[in-house]
Amino acid sequence: MARTLIINGTVVSPTGRQLIDVLIDGETVVAMYAPGQVEAQGVTADTVIDALGKYVIPGGIDVHTHMELPFGGTNASDTFETGSRAAAWGGVTTIVDFAVQRYGENVIDSLGEWHAKAAGECAIDYAFHQIVGGIDDEALKAMRYLTENEGVTSFKLFMAYPGVFYSDDGQILRAMQTAGDIGATIMMHAENGIAIDVLVGQAIARGETDPKYHSYTRPSLLEGEATHRAIILSQVAGNAPLYIVHVSASDALLEIAAARDAGRNVFAETCPQYLYMTLEETLAKPGFEGAKWVCSPPVRSAHDTHHHHADLWKGLRTNDIAIVSTDHCPFCMKDQKELGLGNFSKIPNGMGGVEHRMELLYQGVVNGELTLERWVETCCTTPARMFGMYPKKGIIAPGADADIVIWDPATQTRIGINDKHHMNIDHSSWEGYVIDGKVETVLSRGTVVIADDAYVGRKGHGQFVRRGLSQYLV
Ligand code: URP
Ligand code: ZN
Ligand code: ZN
Repeated sequence: MARTLIINGTVVSPTGRQLIDVLIDGETVVAMYAPGQVEAQGVTADTVIDALGKYVIPGGIDVHTHMELPFGGTNASDTFETGSRAAAWGGVTTIVDFAVQRYGENVIDSLGEWHAKAAGECAIDYAFHQIVGGIDDEALKAMRYLTENEGVTSFKLFMAYPGVFYSDDGQILRAMQTAGDIGATIMMHAENGIAIDVLVGQAIARGETDPKYHSYTRPSLLEGEATHRAIILSQVAGNAPLYIVHVSASDALLEIAAARDAGRNVFAETCPQYLYMTLEETLAKPGFEGAKWVCSPPVRSAHDTHHHHADLWKGLRTNDIAIVSTDHCPFCMKDQKELGLGNFSKIPNGMGGVEHRMELLYQGVVNGELTLERWVETCCTTPARMFGMYPKKGIIAPGADADIVIWDPATQTRIGINDKHHMNIDHSSWEGYVIDGKVETVLSRGTVVIADDAYVGRKGHGQFVRRGLSQYLV
């Protein structure tokens, strides 16, 4: 098996940074050496990568992507092939995507459908959560089956999107009772969809049809309310593991922090769009351009009573927010976002970002919001532990998969449709952002997939990862 040695780099983990040389044999990290030990012990390799002046970090793990998601009358524009390749360009070596069961469908069959979409297509490793859009006796049995037999141990439910994926409180409680029993995690889209639909109907009736009304009709209060309700339901279900996805607002964060202070099994993620973007600079652009940034929950206003950005960055520092994912769900303007011309409620919800999470969060390090170690923890290590993939993933250590990113802090990355952009989408939500630092080299299970500004991986290299239970439960 081929041996690769990464020398002279600074290896970063959640607990610190150190000059260490890393030896890979085949797909696995097999040894790590203090400076001088490679020469002293006569260690040799087929390939030597010099990482002098660079950070050597575990491959990024994005636990919230939607490749090919059928949604809003169309399909998310990245396939598993194009989206996983773009992820590799962004220093991501594992994605966790969502298999989808809609009301009336069989959960186990739907997981099979998503396996068929992804198998043989991915550039990097992949795993699945299961969306359960129709909780009934059969679906509850399937949750147990998937957790015990299929390596799918987390289930997304929706308090939003009535008539699409929505579950009522009774269904949610039953799913949480099952999850609590088997140790699985409930991932919650926490927005009060019933109230939102009333506000949306009233706005359209008033002729308020532009993209910005998407945000005005989904106030942060309704994210906070749904988050509170989800937390109470998980408490009633006996402290069932609850993970709030894509937190966008201080209102929700306050509820999460209170639950965590009370010692509950409540965890949360946010996404780069909620850390950087404002309604005024995105959805409120003139004409239909704001459609590019229609996602749910929405990007918030800079003039709210809460300072959402500052609060979310703080939540990341204090661990009330444990993970940054992207909620990558890209739709082109042409023929896709355009479905909502003249009616914002028909704009497919979602934006593309799987390629830029590591970059955008590293900018948080440069800006003094996070330490280098916390960057690695929130983007690489905690995702692996939260979703049962550690220590195979999420860490550079002997025995771990050799999923490694060499990060150059001395270069910049210019994001944009004519700059760095590899996702299958006809615009960039991050157009014009210039980031300090750059993904230089990416290894997926010991194979170089990105080097010298080129993709050198192959479709089908990525393997399905069977996951265990969350490692954060009490
Ligand atoms: O707007 C979004 N977030 N689209 C993807 C589906 C979801 O709710 O995560
Ligand atoms: Zn969601
Ligand atoms: Zn999502």
